[in-house]
Amino acid sequence: MIYPIYLYGSHVLREKAVEADLSRKEELKKLLDDMVETMHNADGCGLAAPQIGISERILVVDGNELADRYPALKGFHREMVNPTVTFESEETSEYNEGCLSLPGLDADIVRPKRIKVRYHDADLVEKEEEFDEFAARMLQHELDHLDGIVFTDRARPIRKKMLAGKLNNIAKGIARTSYRVKLEK
Ligand code: NI
Repeated sequence: MIYPIYLYGSHVLREKAVEADLSRKEELKKLLDDMVETMHNADGCGLAAPQIGISERILVVDGNELADRYPALKGFHREMVNPTVTFESEETSEYNEGCLSLPGLDADIVRPKRIKVRYHDADLVEKEEEFDEFAARMLQHELDHLDGIVFTDRARPIRKKMLAGKLNNIAKGIARTSYRVKLEK
Protein backbone atom coordinates (compact mmCIF):
# COMPACT_ATOMS: atom_id res chain seq x y z
CA MET A 1 0.00 0.00 0.00
CA ILE A 2 1.28 3.41 -0.94
CA TYR A 3 0.88 6.06 1.74
CA PRO A 4 0.70 9.81 1.13
CA ILE A 5 3.84 11.58 2.34
CA TYR A 6 3.46 14.26 5.00
CA LEU A 7 4.85 17.62 4.03
CA TYR A 8 7.05 19.94 6.04
CA GLY A 9 4.74 21.92 8.29
CA SER A 10 2.94 18.78 9.44
CA HIS A 11 3.01 18.28 13.19
CA VAL A 12 3.99 14.61 13.02
CA LEU A 13 7.35 15.56 11.46
CA ARG A 14 8.19 17.52 14.61
CA GLU A 15 7.29 14.87 17.15
CA LYS A 16 9.75 12.57 18.86
CA ALA A 17 8.69 9.14 17.63
CA VAL A 18 8.12 6.34 20.14
CA GLU A 19 9.68 2.88 20.11
CA ALA A 20 7.79 0.38 17.98
CA ASP A 21 6.17 -2.55 19.77
CA LEU A 22 8.23 -5.58 18.68
CA SER A 23 5.46 -8.01 19.59
CA ARG A 24 3.45 -6.79 16.56
CA LYS A 25 5.72 -8.72 14.20
CA GLU A 26 3.33 -9.23 11.29
CA GLU A 27 2.03 -5.67 11.48
CA LEU A 28 5.59 -4.32 11.46
CA LYS A 29 6.51 -6.46 8.47
CA LYS A 30 3.54 -5.14 6.51
CA LEU A 31 4.38 -1.57 7.50
CA LEU A 32 8.01 -1.98 6.36
CA ASP A 33 6.82 -3.39 3.01
CA ASP A 34 4.44 -0.45 2.61
CA MET A 35 7.18 2.01 3.49
CA VAL A 36 9.52 0.52 0.87
CA GLU A 37 6.71 0.67 -1.70
CA THR A 38 5.90 4.27 -0.77
CA MET A 39 9.59 5.25 -0.96
CA HIS A 40 10.09 3.65 -4.38
CA ASN A 41 6.87 5.12 -5.72
CA ALA A 42 8.20 8.58 -4.84
CA ASP A 43 11.69 7.80 -6.24
CA GLY A 44 13.13 8.36 -2.78
CA CYS A 45 16.18 6.72 -1.22
CA GLY A 46 14.92 6.80 2.34
CA LEU A 47 11.74 7.10 4.36
CA ALA A 48 10.98 7.33 8.07
CA ALA A 49 7.63 6.32 9.55
CA PRO A 50 6.73 9.87 10.69
CA GLN A 51 6.78 10.86 7.01
CA ILE A 52 3.71 8.69 6.51
CA GLY A 53 2.09 9.96 9.68
CA ILE A 54 3.19 7.14 11.97
CA SER A 55 5.17 8.43 14.93
CA GLU A 56 7.21 5.27 15.56
CA ARG A 57 10.95 4.59 15.35
CA ILE A 58 11.02 2.81 12.00
CA LEU A 59 12.94 3.66 8.81
CA VAL A 60 13.86 2.25 5.41
CA VAL A 61 16.73 3.20 3.09
CA ASP A 62 17.66 2.05 -0.40
CA GLY A 63 20.75 3.26 -2.20
CA ASN A 64 20.31 1.43 -5.50
CA GLU A 65 18.96 4.51 -7.29
CA LEU A 66 22.11 6.39 -6.31
CA ALA A 67 24.55 3.62 -7.23
CA ASP A 68 25.55 5.37 -10.47
CA ARG A 69 26.99 8.25 -8.47
CA TYR A 70 28.03 6.27 -5.39
CA PRO A 71 28.98 2.72 -6.49
CA ALA A 72 29.31 1.57 -2.86
CA LEU A 73 25.52 1.94 -2.54
CA LYS A 74 24.80 -0.83 -5.02
CA GLY A 75 22.65 -3.34 -3.17
CA PHE A 76 22.41 -1.14 -0.09
CA HIS A 77 18.98 -1.67 1.42
CA ARG A 78 18.09 -1.66 5.10
CA GLU A 79 14.86 -1.78 7.05
CA MET A 80 15.27 -0.75 10.67
CA VAL A 81 12.99 -0.93 13.68
CA ASN A 82 14.00 0.95 16.85
CA PRO A 83 17.45 1.99 15.60
CA THR A 84 19.88 3.66 17.97
CA VAL A 85 23.23 5.22 17.14
CA THR A 86 25.99 3.61 19.22
CA PHE A 87 28.95 5.44 17.65
CA GLU A 88 29.58 8.62 15.66
CA SER A 89 32.97 9.45 14.17
CA GLU A 90 34.53 12.80 14.93
CA GLU A 91 35.44 13.07 11.30
CA THR A 92 32.66 14.70 9.31
CA SER A 93 31.67 14.90 5.66
CA GLU A 94 29.38 17.14 3.68
CA TYR A 95 26.72 16.01 1.22
CA ASN A 96 23.85 17.64 -0.57
CA GLU A 97 20.57 16.38 0.91
CA GLY A 98 16.93 16.46 -0.08
CA CYS A 99 13.78 14.99 1.42
CA LEU A 100 10.42 13.72 0.17
CA SER A 101 8.72 15.85 2.82
CA LEU A 102 10.48 18.98 1.55
CA PRO A 103 10.03 18.68 -2.21
CA GLY A 104 12.26 20.81 -4.41
CA LEU A 105 14.67 21.75 -1.64
CA ASP A 106 18.28 20.80 -1.09
CA ALA A 107 21.14 21.87 1.12
CA ASP A 108 24.69 20.81 1.91
CA ILE A 109 24.72 19.28 5.37
CA VAL A 110 27.71 18.38 7.56
CA ARG A 111 27.40 15.16 9.55
CA PRO A 112 29.65 12.50 11.12
CA LYS A 113 31.30 10.47 8.39
CA ARG A 114 30.84 7.08 10.06
CA ILE A 115 28.23 5.78 12.47
CA LYS A 116 27.35 2.53 14.15
CA VAL A 117 23.68 1.64 14.49
CA ARG A 118 21.98 -1.02 16.58
CA TYR A 119 18.55 -1.97 15.27
CA HIS A 120 16.06 -4.73 14.62
CA ASP A 121 15.78 -5.85 10.99
CA ALA A 122 12.59 -6.83 9.14
CA ASP A 123 12.67 -10.24 10.88
CA LEU A 124 13.14 -8.35 14.15
CA VAL A 125 16.61 -9.83 14.60
CA GLU A 126 18.84 -7.43 16.53
CA LYS A 127 21.95 -6.25 14.69
CA GLU A 128 24.73 -3.74 15.03
CA GLU A 129 26.45 -2.43 11.93
CA GLU A 130 28.87 0.28 10.95
CA PHE A 131 28.10 2.53 7.99
CA ASP A 132 30.21 5.14 6.25
CA GLU A 133 30.00 7.83 3.60
CA PHE A 134 26.66 8.07 1.82
CA ALA A 135 25.08 5.09 3.60
CA ALA A 136 25.84 6.75 6.95
CA ARG A 137 24.47 9.96 5.52
CA MET A 138 21.15 8.44 4.42
CA LEU A 139 20.68 6.77 7.77
CA GLN A 140 21.45 9.91 9.77
CA HIS A 141 18.93 11.86 7.71
CA GLU A 142 16.23 9.25 8.44
CA LEU A 143 17.26 8.88 12.10
CA ASP A 144 16.77 12.64 12.46
CA HIS A 145 13.16 12.25 11.32
CA LEU A 146 12.56 9.97 14.31
CA ASP A 147 13.53 12.86 16.58
CA GLY A 148 11.45 15.49 14.82
CA ILE A 149 14.41 17.00 12.95
CA VAL A 150 14.45 17.80 9.22
CA PHE A 151 17.65 18.37 7.23
CA THR A 152 17.12 22.08 6.74
CA ASP A 153 17.36 22.49 10.54
CA ARG A 154 21.03 21.57 10.12
CA ALA A 155 21.72 23.80 7.10
CA ARG A 156 24.03 26.78 7.36
CA PRO A 157 22.19 29.96 8.43
CA ILE A 158 22.74 31.61 5.05
CA ARG A 159 21.29 28.60 3.19
CA LYS A 160 18.38 28.44 5.63
CA LYS A 161 17.62 32.06 4.87
CA MET A 162 17.65 31.35 1.15
CA LEU A 163 15.22 28.47 1.63
CA ALA A 164 12.83 30.29 3.98
CA GLY A 165 10.36 31.31 1.29
CA LYS A 166 10.17 27.81 -0.16
CA LEU A 167 9.78 26.30 3.31
CA ASN A 168 6.88 28.65 4.01
CA ASN A 169 5.21 27.63 0.78
CA ILE A 170 5.53 23.92 1.54
CA ALA A 171 4.09 24.50 5.01
CA LYS A 172 1.10 26.05 3.24
CA GLY A 173 0.79 22.98 1.05
CA ILE A 174 2.26 24.60 -2.04
CA ALA A 175 4.46 21.85 -3.52
CA ARG A 176 4.75 20.10 -6.85
CA THR A 177 5.31 16.37 -6.50
CA SER A 178 4.85 13.20 -8.53
CA TYR A 179 3.54 11.44 -5.40
CA ARG A 180 0.58 11.98 -3.09
CA VAL A 181 1.22 14.35 -0.19
CA LYS A 182 -0.58 15.39 2.95
CA LEU A 183 -0.34 18.35 5.28
CA GLU A 184 -1.68 18.11 8.82
CA LYS A 185 -0.72 20.85 11.21
NI1 NI B 1 13.71 13.15 4.81
